[in-house]
Amino acid sequence: MTHETPEQLNARLDIGKDARFEIGQGGLTRLTLDGAVASGQVYLHGAHVTAWQPAGHAPVLWMSPISRFEPGHPIRGGVPLCFPWFGPHPHDPQAPAHGLARLETWQPTALRRTADGDLVVELQRRIADFDLTYTVSLGRTLTMTLHILNRAAAPRRAEVALHTYFTVGDVKQVQITGLGGTIYVDKVAGGTRRRQGDEPIMFHGETDRVYLNTQAACVLDDPVLLRRITVEKSGSNSTVVWNPWIDKARRMPDFPDDGWPGMCCIETASVADDALQLPPGGDHAIIASLSVARTA
Ligand code: BG6
Repeated sequence: MTHETPEQLNARLDIGKDARFEIGQGGLTRLTLDGAVASGQVYLHGAHVTAWQPAGHAPVLWMSPISRFEPGHPIRGGVPLCFPWFGPHPHDPQAPAHGLARLETWQPTALRRTADGDLVVELQRRIADFDLTYTVSLGRTLTMTLHILNRAAAPRRAEVALHTYFTVGDVKQVQITGLGGTIYVDKVAGGTRRRQGDEPIMFHGETDRVYLNTQAACVLDDPVLLRRITVEKSGSNSTVVWNPWIDKARRMPDFPDDGWPGMCCIETASVADDALQLPPGGDHAIIASLSVARTA
């Protein structure tokens, strides 16, 4: 857990002129980049990427305008890190949804620039029996790599998701391709398993699906914002697709009632049947890489 002030972090890490640690919303410390290649923000609370905008494009990630920014509560939007469980805890109904990683304060351990001008920040945190290292590269692509090491003397199971919220022009008009033929758990239908047809995924109501045993990249076509977002991944065997629609949006206190048409989630994950099984000393890296292109 870091107790360093933004000034101390700025002095310790070689940050450059276009980036800084600073106090952000709710008094929480964040890294802010206003670079020539991209801008972005990463909060130490949850190691949470809350913004990414490559030069020449509109913001890519959706953030709730009424998100909490408070210790003990997750940030709503951006990229919450779900670990070491996804959704409700398997046995403990009191445990927080989506695990502990998004609730903890992470320690920034390194900062560097690539030849392309990307800013790469590395953050670390011990969660339960796992040593986690999260590397976020903010540039023309946003690449997020979570490295997970089992420090226990016994095998451990863990679920993980890079729960990415995208801004869309109108969720009723977007199309997601890449998951054709894939079996998914339909959480809206009580966990029924179905097979995705060959047609693109479209949103017609509350959608909460865990696509299993898929390593495929997904493409999100947005005919309103006239752009195409590509989500490439590795070390991930599940993809979660989510939109809360009307009623669930109303039930979430940190989500605007009218926010659901402007967002959807495509989550790079390994959950449920695809959960990680790590032997003692075993490790794993899950990587999501986002890019955006204009279509007109
Ligand atoms: C999704 C889950 O990944 O996250 C949904 O599949 C859940 O079931 C959503 O509602 C948001 O979760 P939370 O805990 O951030 O409200």
